[in-house]
Amino acid sequence: MQEKCELVIILGDVTDTEPTRELEAQNMRQIAQVLNASELEALCVMGNHDAFVFTPDEFYGLLGEKYRPRTIQRNGANLLFLDACYFHTGIHYAPGDSEWTDTFYPYADDLKNTLSALTGDVYVFMHQNIDPEVRADHCLCNASQIRGILENAGNVKAVYQGHYHPGHETCCNGICYITLPAMCQNENACRIIQIP
Ligand SMILES: [Fe+2]
Repeated sequence: MQEKCELVIILGDVTDTEPTRELEAQNMRQIAQVLNASELEALCVMGNHDAFVFTPDEFYGLLGEKYRPRTIQRNGANLLFLDACYFHTGIHYAPGDSEWTDTFYPYADDLKNTLSALTGDVYVFMHQNIDPEVRADHCLCNASQIRGILENAGNVKAVYQGHYHPGHETCCNGICYITLPAMCQNENACRIIQIP
C-alpha cells in the first residue's frame, strides 16, 4: 500500500503446511481478511500445494471469488494467468494428490488462439516453471511447447513464476522468465513491477 501498487499478484502455494484441512481453511480465511482489509485489487493463482488441499472452487470460495485470476488489461498491456496444476494426462490436481513433479498445461491450442487475439504486450503469470534454465522437475512436462507458443505469438514480454524456491531469471528468445524466490524462505521475496 505504501508503494502505491495498483494490483497484487500472488503466485500460489499459500497452503499445505497444516495437519488438517480445517486449519488450512482457517489460514485461507485469515489471508482473505488481510487482502480484504488492504483494499488493494489482488489476484491469486493456485500452486500445487493449494491444489493438493482444495479444489479450485473450494480455494476461491474460501479466499473470495474476486481473487480468481482472469485476463485483465493494464496500461494497454494484457496480464494472462495460466493454471498448470495438471498431470500430463490432462487431469487437474485434486485434494489428496501429491506428485508435484508431474505438471502440465493442457490448453496449448487455446493459448495460441488467446495470444493471437490480444492486442498489446502480454505478461504471463503462473505458479510452475517454463524457464529453460530452471531444474526440469520444477518445469512443465510441455514447457518447451508452451515457450514455443509464447515466442511465436510475438507479443509476450515476460513470464512471472514461483514454485522454484531459490528463484531465477533468464531472458531467452525475446521473453524474460522471472521466477520469484519463495516467501517461505524469505518473507520479503516480493517484487514491484511496472507494466509499461
Ligand atoms: Fe509449488
